[in-house]
Amino acid sequence: MERTFLMVKPDGIQRGLIGKIISRMEDKGFKMIAGKLMFVSEELAKVHYQEHEGKPFFEKLVNFITSGPVFAMVWEGDDIIALSRNLIGKTNPSEAMPGTIRGDFASHATFNLIHGSDSKASADREIGIYFTPEQLLSYDKSISPWI
Ligand code: TYD
Ligand code: MG
Repeated sequence: MERTFLMVKPDGIQRGLIGKIISRMEDKGFKMIAGKLMFVSEELAKVHYQEHEGKPFFEKLVNFITSGPVFAMVWEGDDIIALSRNLIGKTNPSEAMPGTIRGDFASHATFNLIHGSDSKASADREIGIYFTPEQLLSYDKSISPWI
């Protein structure tokens, strides 16, 4: 069972889209094992997005992520890293397909509603910077009710 880190960004909270975004993950059959509404400090934002340090959009990205509360989550499911990235859609709004979260709700490359880990290594790293191991819940949930 794979885990990933997902985060509704400040625009998603401001626009009242937390529920819709979570529903997409629930509808896919994934299981939330941690979640919290929180502010991201400038320090945390820079650690989270360290791979983008020095890029032209970095400062704008840090300012945006720290501008209001986010909803940080850990989700579990088979092949969830790749599958949740598919549900999220491409970063560039002109490439994000209808049916994806960004394709349906976002129209800006920075204000794009949701973050999702892009690899096993980034998922492990990101889960570790937002949550302690004790905060990752273990519980039974039928994630394939049709079987
Ligand atoms: P990136 O990791 O490339 O995208 P994704 O969120 O799809 O994994 O970039 C991280 C965030 O940086 C992205 O969600 C929005 C912001 N960003 C910009 O503002 N402009 C850009 O040109 C890019 C590539 C990203
Ligand atoms: Mg990324």
